[in-house]
Formats: sequence, C-alpha cells, structure tokens
Amino acid sequence: MTDATTTDVLVLGSGIAGCGAALAAAREGASVLVATKAQQPADASTDWAQGGIATTRDDPESLKRDILAAGDGEADPEAVDALVGDAAAAVEDVLVDTLGVPFDGEEGFDYAREAAHSAARILHVDAATGHHILGPFLRHLDAHENVDMLEDAAALDLITDEGTVTGALLDRNPRTGDRAETGVPVFAGSTVLATGGIGDLYRRSTNPRGSTGDGVAMAALAGADVTDAEYVQFHPTAYDDADPFLVSEAVRGEGALLRNADGERFMPDYHEDAELAPRDVVARAVAAERDATGEVRLDVSPLAFAEEFPGLAESCADRGVDWETGIPVAPCEHFLCGGVAVDTVGRTSLDRLFAVGECARTGVHGANRLASTSLLEGLVWGLRAGETAAGDGRAPAPSEPPELRDRDPDLPDGFAAEKFRRLRRVMDEHVGLRRTGADLQRAQGVLRRLKGEVDSYARTRTSRDLYQLRNAAVVGLLIARAAGENPESAGCHHRSDEAAAEEAPDAGH
Ligand code: SIN
Repeated sequence: MTDATTTDVLVLGSGIAGCGAALAAAREGASVLVATKAQQPADASTDWAQGGIATTRDDPESLKRDILAAGDGEADPEAVDALVGDAAAAVEDVLVDTLGVPFDGEEGFDYAREAAHSAARILHVDAATGHHILGPFLRHLDAHENVDMLEDAAALDLITDEGTVTGALLDRNPRTGDRAETGVPVFAGSTVLATGGIGDLYRRSTNPRGSTGDGVAMAALAGADVTDAEYVQFHPTAYDDADPFLVSEAVRGEGALLRNADGERFMPDYHEDAELAPRDVVARAVAAERDATGEVRLDVSPLAFAEEFPGLAESCADRGVDWETGIPVAPCEHFLCGGVAVDTVGRTSLDRLFAVGECARTGVHGANRLASTSLLEGLVWGLRAGETAAGDGRAPAPSEPPELRDRDPDLPDGFAAEKFRRLRRVMDEHVGLRRTGADLQRAQGVLRRLKGEVDSYARTRTSRDLYQLRNAAVVGLLIARAAGENPESAGCHHRSDEAAAEEAPDAGH
C-alpha cells in the first residue's frame, strides 16, 4: 500500500453534525480527518438553516412532548430524552462559549416560536441561524491541531473488513490534495457519516445541490440497517418556483397567514393550530388548496417583515417577488427523518461506523420532524458520536482496500444529469407528499431499472457524478420500498389510498 492515509476518526461531511463529531473527537485527543464534498460552507444544509435551534429553556419535558407529538407516535422516547437531556449543555458549551454565535437578543436571548412548539424556545440569528453557526465552527476546527480538513473530497465507498468498517475511499488524496478517480483509501479507527440529506432526489428542495444521500447509500451497500426511510419531510412554505427558497416557519411563528388564490385564509379549517399546525398537516393543506384554487400565498402583512426577516426580504427582492402582495409558496422536499439506524451515541449496526445528522435515523423525529430540531439533533449526536468514536480505538494499520476500476472511457457529458432528471421525475410523481400503493410499485420498478443501469456503468468507472447517481438511486429505492411496505399514514408519510378522507377540511386533523 503506497498512498494510504490513516487517522483515528474519519468524519465524512462538514455540517453541524460532522463538525460536532470532529470537535468532540479532537477534544478527546484523537486525530481527525474531516473529508467533505463541500467547497464552501454554503454547500452544507446547515448553512441554509433559517429558523434556528430549539432549546429546552427550563422546561425539557415540554420540548419532549412537542417532539413526540410532531413525530406522530413514531418517535423513540429514549432518543428524545437524550436530545433534551443534552440540549442546554451542548448549546452553551459549543455554540455560546466555544464559537461565540451571536444569537439575537439584547438582554438575554430573544426566543422565537415556530409551528407545533408550545413555547417560544428557539435561538436564532435573524433567519440565517445555520450560516452564523457553521462559519465559526469551520474556522474553529481549521485552527484545531488535531483536525485536518479536506474539502471537495467525496467518499466513493466505505472500506470494510469482515463486517467492520475500517475507513473510506476518497476521490481526493488527503496528502497531496490531488484528485484520485479510483479512490485513495483512508483507514480510520472509526468512521462517522455526516453526509446530510437527499434533496437532490427531488426537483424542488430546500437543500443545497449535491444532497444525494451518499452516507445512507454507502452504509446500506455495506450492509448497515436503514430505517424509517419513508418519512421524507416536505416543508410547506418554499417559494413557488422551479428554483425555490425556503420561507422559514418562523415567519408564520411571527403571525404570517396562508391564503388561497381566492384570498381566503384556510388553515383554521384544517387544524385547530391553524398556521402553527405540524409541518406535514400544513404541507398537505397548502398542496390541496393550491390544487383547488391555483395558488397559495403567505400573507406577511401582520408583521414587520422586512425588519424582522431582512434576509428573506432580500431573497424576495432578488427574485422579483413583491412580498407586500404575499409570497407565493408551495411545499418542497426538506428533510429525511429516517436514515441509517443509530443508537443514542450514533453507532450504526456495523462495527466502527457511526452516523449523525440528517443521514442518521436517531428516532428523535419519528414520522415528522418538529421545526428547529435538526441543528440540535446534529449537534447533540455529533458530540456524542465523536466522543464515543474517539474512545473506540485509534488508527488501524492499512489493509487491502477494495479495488475500484476506472478502465472505461468517461461517459458522455450530461449522462448523469439525464438520469438524475428521470430519477427526480419518478420521486416527485410517485414518492412525494401524497402516495398510493400503485404509484410506489411503479416507482420501485423504474428505480430498480435505473439502479441496474448505473451499477453496470459504475463497475468500470468511478466519476463522482456517477457515484452520486448510484447513491441517489439506492436511496430513492430504499425510500420507495419503505413507503410501499408501510400502508399506514403517519406524519409526513401520507398514503392517500389509505385515508383519502383525511385530506378534507374539518376531518379531525
Ligand atoms: C424553517 O426555518 O422553517 C426550517 C427550520 C427547520 O426545518 O427546522
């Protein structure tokens, strides 16, 4: 072996969860390599997170109740206990004391309220909270003597040795910085997946491009358990355009109202909490009213929009949206609640493999995630997993990595893009906000064929585009299969063939 690198802990991904894992492992004295596809902070979903980070204030039990209620009976109380138990200390230690995140508030914090929260408990910086966390986090790690950061580096596959994960093949050499099409093996005592979400599987998403479910796919291909994949959350209020931007739930928290094309406020007909109902309820209601009347707008006239949400007012202006007449909104893919199954310290079902953040299924979200809990979950599980991973063992000696072949000519430009279009079409049409058994069967057929095609190309080629496509096809299939196997609607998995009546107003949401 000539070009192998070894490290105690290899973290794949650089959002809040990956950063949390790297920080905790480095604090334990482990050597850490963070390898990330991101070329800039904005390539991670964390940087896009608007609303904020939920805290417990002095009432952890009420946050726990809200999370369990949003999860629609599917959340794991033990995981929720872990989250709320660590929340205050993690936020104070890392975000406030270590990174000095300038949360809004003059004398003490200005806690915001968002949908399905029974109290104002969300720390935020304008409506650009993730951006104000991630920049300082990356700078802090960059300066840490135990941490090396490698940007624009995708993991192509995990390396396994008799069921134990011993590292990953990267498409960039950590020593030289050179691109390495056939993969450079990095051997690690523990590997932490923190690769984020799956937004690129849908035409419209609030995630950055490149959210292709890499960690979930690599873990599944290595034999790890993936659960709750059917619970794909759609955010109710993204700008209604092929290239959407998120209009934070915090705007409804401050009093904005949803109106259909006839100008009627409709949410009170769907849920007693109206605009502050759980996200899945609002998303389906917005879709139904948009179908019935042609358009839904978010009326921001009840608040001082430009003052309270300057970043969003700017996004509107950039896109030529006159927010004074209401912002046209439609649901769009936002978050995968399921993923690689992990325990309360982020361990997967494979030895020495951890998963944190959106690619992990901790059990906190159940069938539907409560607003502003993703940054918190990423931070808490990142810290727990990083500390555990560091204690699990140090860098192993290099062994024989799998051989990736790159012997055939490159595929034509646009090959992966065309297949991605096919994949997104099937996910949108058959594995979206409302699903039927027949549609899910159809989706599985198309995705299976697509995966077969991609696998045959990937046997002799290793471009990043092709591997991302393979990952997206694997994850799309896992989602469609899980959705097909679950005939019961819960949270964001809505089987319209099971309970069509639930769609109608006054149907007891
Ligand atoms: C939002 O600001 O509406 C998104 C926050 C979240 O997804 O938790």
